[in-house]
Amino acid sequence: MKCKCENNCIQKKEDILKDINTLYKPCPECHKKGLKKAIPLKQQIKLDKLDKNYKRCPQCHKRHIDYVMAHILKILIQNNQITPDASIRKLGTPLITPALNLDYLPILSKKTLVIITNNTDKQTAQEILEEVPEVKAVIKGNTEEIVGQITENVKPQTYNLMAGCDIRCDIQNNLDTTICIYKEQSKIHIEYPRTNSPKLQEVNNILSQYENPVILDAMCGVGTLGIYALNKNAKKVIFNDIYNTAIDNLKTNLQVNNISPDRYEIHNQNILELAENIKEEVDIVLLDAFLEVDTTEYADVLKKIGKDVVII
Ligand SMILES: C[S@@+](CC[C@H](N)C(=O)[O-])C[C@H]1O[C@@H](n2cnc3c(N)ncnc32)[C@H](O)[C@@H]1O
Ligand SMILES: [Zn+2]
Ligand SMILES: [Zn+2]
Repeated sequence: MKCKCENNCIQKKEDILKDINTLYKPCPECHKKGLKKAIPLKQQIKLDKLDKNYKRCPQCHKRHIDYVMAHILKILIQNNQITPDASIRKLGTPLITPALNLDYLPILSKKTLVIITNNTDKQTAQEILEEVPEVKAVIKGNTEEIVGQITENVKPQTYNLMAGCDIRCDIQNNLDTTICIYKEQSKIHIEYPRTNSPKLQEVNNILSQYENPVILDAMCGVGTLGIYALNKNAKKVIFNDIYNTAIDNLKTNLQVNNISPDRYEIHNQNILELAENIKEEVDIVLLDAFLEVDTTEYADVLKKIGKDVVII
C-alpha cells in the first residue's frame, strides 16, 4: 500500500504482526543497558562520541531507544535548540511504530521512531532525520495540547510536521482480537496502545449482548472502535467523523485490517446533522467524544438513530 510520502510506510495487518514479537527485542550481542533519563546527558556520555554507530549492535544493527534519544538530544544541543545540560526526559515524546504495549525498553531498527518535541526548528529536524536512522519523523508540538477537532464549534488543531513522514501505527489488542491502526501523528491525537484497553472492553461488553449488530461509530476518528467491532461479531459499521483527516486515516485502516467494503459505510459529518442520512436500522451507537466534551446534545440526537447509545 502506498503512503502519502510514496514510500512503504503502510503495511497490511498480517505483515505488521508477522515479526512483531521480536522486532524490539535485543539479540544476544545488543547493548542492553539504558541511560539515566533525568540526569544531564553530558554527564553520562562525551557528546562528540555520539554518532549513528554509537552503541549500535554489530550483529543486528539495532540500537537501544535511550541511545537513539541521546543522539537526537545531542543534535538539538549542538544546534542550540535546547539547553546544554538537558536530559533525555526533557527532549519530548518518543512514539515507536508499529507500537504495542511493551514491558521492556525497545531496541530500535530503521525508521521506527516518531519524535514530538517543542524544541526544534526545521533545519535541525531535517538534520535529525538525516543523521539518526531510527527516526521516521520529527514533529514540533506540545503533547499536553490535544490535536484534532474537539467539537463542531472549533477548528482542528495540529502539531507541526518538521521533517519525515508522520504516518505511524498503533497495535490495539483486546482478548483474542488484534487490530492495526495508522494515523498521521501531527494531526491526530495520541492514543497509547494498551493491552485490554478500557474502551475496547466496553465495546466488547455491549457486543456480547447482540448476535450480529449494526453499529454506528458516531465519532469514529481513525476507526479503532468500529474496526474492532467488525473483527468481532458486528454485521456492519457505519463510521462517522466531522474531521477530514480522521476519515482519510480511517480509509487506510479499513484496508490495512482487510475489512470488506460491503461491511461498512462512511460519513464525514457533524453528528447533529447525521440522522437524515442514516437509512439503516442501527442497533448500537458508540459515542467516543474527547474527555472534556459534554455529550448530552449528541446523545439526544443519536437516540433517534439507534436503540442503544453507549457513551465510551
Ligand atoms: C476521542 S476522538 C475519537 C477517537 C476514536 N474512537 C478513534 O479510534 O480514533 C473524538 C472524535 O470526535 C470527532 N468529533 C468532534 N466533534 C464532532 C461532531 N460534532 N460530529 C462528529 N464528529 C466529531 C473528532 O474529530 C474526533 O475524531
Ligand atoms: Zn509515509
Ligand atoms: Zn543486536
